[in-house]
Amino acid sequence: MKVGILTGGGDCPGLNPAIRGAVMRLLDFGDEVIGFTRGWKGLVEGTTIPLTLDVVEPIISEGGTILHSSRTNPFKPGNEAQLEAVLANLKKFNIDALIAIGGDDTLGVASKLYHLHGINAIGVPKTMDNDLSLTDYTFGFDSAANVALHAIDGLRDTAKSHERVIVVEVMGRHAGWVALYSAIASGADWVFIPEVEADLDAASAHLIKNKERGKDWGLVIVSEGVELPGDDTGDAEVDAFGHKFLKDLAIGPTVAKEIQKRTGFEVRDVVLGHIVRGGHPTLFDRILGTRVGIEAAERVHRGEFGKMVALQGNEVLGVPIADAVGKQKVVSDELYKSFLTTFNK
Ligand code: F6P
Repeated sequence: MKVGILTGGGDCPGLNPAIRGAVMRLLDFGDEVIGFTRGWKGLVEGTTIPLTLDVVEPIISEGGTILHSSRTNPFKPGNEAQLEAVLANLKKFNIDALIAIGGDDTLGVASKLYHLHGINAIGVPKTMDNDLSLTDYTFGFDSAANVALHAIDGLRDTAKSHERVIVVEVMGRHAGWVALYSAIASGADWVFIPEVEADLDAASAHLIKNKERGKDWGLVIVSEGVELPGDDTGDAEVDAFGHKFLKDLAIGPTVAKEIQKRTGFEVRDVVLGHIVRGGHPTLFDRILGTRVGIEAAERVHRGEFGKMVALQGNEVLGVPIADAVGKQKVVSDELYKSFLTTFNK
């Protein structure tokens, strides 16, 4: 068979292990494998690289993606010519099966290509946000949360030295997984996530209470997707999939100012931004990436298209891509509340 692979959306550690796992297994079947570069843009423009053993063998420890990425959306109204180009290039390059590695947006395109145009597509889930439905974890999350954790551990030292509160903003657009997990694991004093209404007064009261019992420093973690009550972000610029560019909204610095006003603490803010998307994949993400990559290749050869390979418990299964996209897996109220005891004293 001739199989195409692409990576779309925000990069994250684990993409290269996933590409490598898929290619290694496809080579066992005697397949020819090519990579379309820059996500769906590569299929629009017909830009490819060969994915041979020599290319993929050494990439297991590399963050990012050797295929590059973009947020191109051939199904965006007005992009009909792009969609035609995608379909034409799939024919031109004689692609028998396509493995799309991405988050909700990239896999949404793969799902439509399968359902509306009969393309033999298989989805592999990735996102540092960990917000894809029907899979317990996505690779990228563990690496990103660990980078955030190490950064917060360092910030604790300086917060204590200067008797300050430090507000740390981490990525996480619709779901607060990175913020919540890095906050719990670092023993932070408060966490703001998009799933829970932000209560600046409660956070401030908590920090004041800490001060009264002698804790004269603090750490507050904020997920970039948090909105404060009364915020109007309606006219923020959006990308090809309709997502707001959150980097311009600076929720972390705003929270820092509000906490300083309310508590009298000297407050600093740090926006970790893209730092959490970089660096080597953790062991967990290397194994998960490799497993889902291999499983996608297996499913290509079983002809199980229109599926996303998903981690459920310790099994990698196939679920309909259409069921996985379009609805985020967010932090449940139950999980959030179960953690409250560890920082809301
Ligand atoms: O891929 C998800 C994500 O990392 C979000 O957490 C973040 O809001 C977004 O990507 C940033 O996108 P970009 O890299 O295009 O600025």
